[in-house]
Amino acid sequence: MTATKSRARDLRRHRRSRTHSCWGHLIIAPLWVAYDANLGTLLRTCDAVGACLAVPATAHYRAALAQGDTLRRRRPCIHWTRSKAGWIDEQRAAGWRIVAVELAEGATPLPRLAPAREPTVVLLGHEHHGVPDEIVEEVDECVEIPMVGVGSSLNVAVAGSLVLYRLAGLA
Ligand SMILES: C[S@@+](CC[C@H](N)C(=O)[O-])C[C@H]1O[C@@H](n2cnc3c(N)ncnc32)[C@H](O)[C@@H]1O
Repeated sequence: MTATKSRARDLRRHRRSRTHSCWGHLIIAPLWVAYDANLGTLLRTCDAVGACLAVPATAHYRAALAQGDTLRRRRPCIHWTRSKAGWIDEQRAAGWRIVAVELAEGATPLPRLAPAREPTVVLLGHEHHGVPDEIVEEVDECVEIPMVGVGSSLNVAVAGSLVLYRLAGLA
């Protein structure tokens, strides 16, 4: 195989004819994620795969995203939520499939995860406490990323990005 490295600007012009604001097919919801850097990383992944981001409408999340927003005015659509469980219930009632990314019994291993065929919300957990148990019990599907190392889990932004790429059909 012969490959020639492309400049990022040229790649963007050739492969992406339109930017997205809200396509309404994938929302990543780091509703419990605390660290600013993880929220900024997830915002970039949303842009890359054409997903939206949903976060609580609190001063912490607003400041973290303002700080971590390296995309500036071209950033993806952000859904600001009030109550976490209430917002998830609303999405479910509106026909969205709810998927949690979490280490759990009965979870789908990432290599077996199919691309999303219907509008899907992807929940991510807190860096120390994960997704609350009562939320995991109610989701349509839980996805676990297999690991062989000594660590017990991945960084949450890495985990969310891997799952989003898969659901978007890009990996
Ligand atoms: C650092 S982990 C939290 C670990 C926490 N000690 C626990 O026991 O739940 C933060 C979040 O990243 C995601 N995550 C990290 N590694 C994962 C994996 N291997 N499979 C699925 N989700 C993972 C989950 O959303 C998790 O809630």
